[in-house]
Amino acid sequence: MPLSLLRIRHLRNLQDIEIKPSASINVLWGGNGAGKTSILEAIYLLGRGRSFRGTEIGPLITSGKSETVVYGRLHGQDGKRDTIGVSKQLKGTTQIKINGNAVNRLSILAQTLPLQILTPKSHEILERGSAYRRRFIDWGVFHVEHHIIELANNYTKALKQRNAALRRSPQTAFAWDSILIENGIQIESTRRLYLEKLTPIFRDKTKKLTGLGDVTINYRRGWSENETYAESIKRRKKDDLNRGFTGTGPHRADIKIEISGLPVEKVVSRGEQKLIIAALYLAQAKIAANESRIKPLILIDDLPAELDKEKRSLYLDELIRLGLQVFITGISKDYFNTIDCAGMFHVKHGEVFQGN
Ligand SMILES: Nc1ncnc2c1ncn2[C@@H]1O[C@H](COP(=O)(O)OP(=O)(O)OP(=O)(O)O)[C@@H](O)[C@H]1O
Ligand SMILES: [Mg+2]
Repeated sequence: MPLSLLRIRHLRNLQDIEIKPSASINVLWGGNGAGKTSILEAIYLLGRGRSFRGTEIGPLITSGKSETVVYGRLHGQDGKRDTIGVSKQLKGTTQIKINGNAVNRLSILAQTLPLQILTPKSHEILERGSAYRRRFIDWGVFHVEHHIIELANNYTKALKQRNAALRRSPQTAFAWDSILIENGIQIESTRRLYLEKLTPIFRDKTKKLTGLGDVTINYRRGWSENETYAESIKRRKKDDLNRGFTGTGPHRADIKIEISGLPVEKVVSRGEQKLIIAALYLAQAKIAANESRIKPLILIDDLPAELDKEKRSLYLDELIRLGLQVFITGISKDYFNTIDCAGMFHVKHGEVFQGN
């Protein structure tokens, strides 16, 4: 459901703002330091309960204030409405309310306002640790197969206990193996199935956005393809004891994006890497829309400056075609004059002016 009203209080340089976004493309434009990224940060807070610019609460709250509050109203075509309120206090506490009721599970927030974000750093996911890529896949899996949450909780709990026991009381460590195996193989098959659906759509979007063919997703499940997970766990018991942690399983899974068999980050340009990431997100959004009727809200920070005019139009046209609500920032409104942008917001010194 699109966000139809957004109120922000005491978040960075935003003192008290209210905007009524369109259900399609919303442009936030204005000079450096105006507050554009902070508006995306506020929306992100509504969907994830935290910032994407670091975990510290202090810098998020306006200097001299003790609390930031973000409120959003979601409006479905069927007349259905939801409200979300997230507040964070300087002392480190967070309150989340959905339709007035206190909520303490972030997964409920994520289901109420599914969102994706592209920042100038998003392409770094290609090179950073595998945890970032696993999180990326699991976002998509979560919105299509909600039961992955329970499997992942069971698995992570057993893994933690097993790892602790490997270091402190090795004789009890292997008692966790059956829970690990039972949940681990289901997590793996759910991810694999998801990636099988994602790959052709991703290739198609990549071709459209970059013209590059032969881009593939190489999935590594976290243990050898030549053995079952139970066999792998059994074979590596001694290694695990020596190292003091579990070295095999879906917690070691990874994806590599390759072009003609080489890692894309080593071959294609930075702009192309960004478009490849954009294509991955588009493919995820399409699957979520097709399979769960979920249309994630898309936040895009500073992308226009990095793409040429043609690529920018191609990308935004794809988002429009999927019927997604988008918030995109840029320092000039000229970046957007060839695109059908339903909402234009000029951000200036922490204030927002709606209209052209
Ligand atoms: N805790 C805070 N209290 C008050 N102001 C803050 C706080 N944290 C950051 N700021 C200020 O908020 C302003 C808005 O920052 P923001 O990153 O949203 O700007 P922006 O419009 O995205 O700029 P750019 O185009 O440079 O990315 C900046 O001037 C920043 O110094
Ligand atoms: Mg910014």
